Amino acid sequence: MKKVLLVFGTRPEAIKMAPLVKELQQRSNQFTTVVCVTGQHRQMLDQVLDIFEIAPDYDLNIMMQNQDLYDVTSKILIGMRDVLCEIKPDIVLVHGDTTTSTAAALSAFYQQIPVGHIEAGLRTYNIYSPWPEEMNRQITGRIATYNFAPTELSKKNLLSENIDSNKIYLTGNTVIDALYLVIDKIKNDESLAIQLQNTLKIAGYNIVDRLNNNKKLVLITGHRRENFGNGFRNICKAIKYLSYKYPDVDFVYPMHLNPNVRKPIHEIFGENLNENSNMFFIEPLEYLSFVYMMSKCCLVLTDSGGIQEEAPSLGKPVLVMRDTTERPEALDAGTVKLVGTDYNKIIDEVSALLDNEEYYQSMSGATNPYGDGLACKRIADALSQL
Ligand code: UD1
Ligand code: UDP
Repeated sequence: MKKVLLVFGTRPEAIKMAPLVKELQQRSNQFTTVVCVTGQHRQMLDQVLDIFEIAPDYDLNIMMQNQDLYDVTSKILIGMRDVLCEIKPDIVLVHGDTTTSTAAALSAFYQQIPVGHIEAGLRTYNIYSPWPEEMNRQITGRIATYNFAPTELSKKNLLSENIDSNKIYLTGNTVIDALYLVIDKIKNDESLAIQLQNTLKIAGYNIVDRLNNNKKLVLITGHRRENFGNGFRNICKAIKYLSYKYPDVDFVYPMHLNPNVRKPIHEIFGENLNENSNMFFIEPLEYLSFVYMMSKCCLVLTDSGGIQEEAPSLGKPVLVMRDTTERPEALDAGTVKLVGTDYNKIIDEVSALLDNEEYYQSMSGATNPYGDGLACKRIADALSQL
């Protein structure tokens, strides 16, 4: 029996680790599954834990308002020391590129416990973009003994860094497992769709009324540290302009809880955010409602990593407000485009997608280079062979 400790702490890690927790728990004859959350995020993490009905065994509960990277790193490093001493796992699984994943991996390394890196090998090779995530992912990659690469390209990156090919497993991305799980649930349960419509209405967007009135929906999210300051101000100014230019299009922005994201929004839109009748600022949505909204939108404007992977599967064009991406697969497939935080570029690209049907069709073909929904099964199979 292998004792597997999964460590995660932010919303996207939780979404992508949740199906793996479930898969390992189902194989209780092979694995003892222990979950530790760092609480790098609090409310946004708890939303995911609730949806997937995961009760963590350990919770470092480290979040402080506006915490900086020193706070996050040091609290996790120290907090994990005691958890690891108590659990003595055979392997620690961490995910992706957050500070939770790197600090937890380093903590495990200090006790010589092998680390498995889920979503390994994504690279921009620019250590400041995304920042600090590119360096986080590279460091976790150096520490990891086992690397679970989601795509051929991520595997190739790891091989080019001289990682032993026997320690790389091509699995697909677990985000697609999570997405399919949720889409199946929504498809097979009519009452759930109604429940989600009500949740959205309470959150401030009456999706049924608006879409019945032939409104198009542009979904927006943003949170990257490298966009703080002028980048976010440009983004907000461009969205404001677009909301005036297209009065028949709804712009819905579930705002990340980071105060650095909200400040420029208030600077540009004023204190009364929902004054403009087609601009909707709402609180972060729980995963099911967000996926439902994504499935109903016409395009996504985002700097998120996970959404770049999910939206193409739903046939939604994605304009990525970043200069680089560690996920070029959908870029190559033509459903994702980089627009940076350039005011004119954002306006031009959103306008082109809204005005030009042919152009829209060229970007909206459903494509999914990221997985087939069986990533967690492959990871669990690999773990059982170690
Ligand atoms: C973190 C990750 C980023 C990931 C993102 C997903 C790092 C360095 N950054 O960035 O890679 O893409 O999560 O969203 O690991 N806050 C709350 N409640 C919450 C969550 C955040 O109030 O549930 C506020 C707090 O004031 C917190 C701040 O947001 O201090 C920033 O959170 P933090 O985890 O440091 O950074 P993110 O920008 O969320
Ligand atoms: N998401 C969500 N509610 C929201 C916004 C996003 O559940 O209001 C989900 C989204 O579907 C994706 C993940 O959160 O799976 C992305 O998280 P985020 O953009 O915060 O982080 P990143 O992926 O950039 O690390």
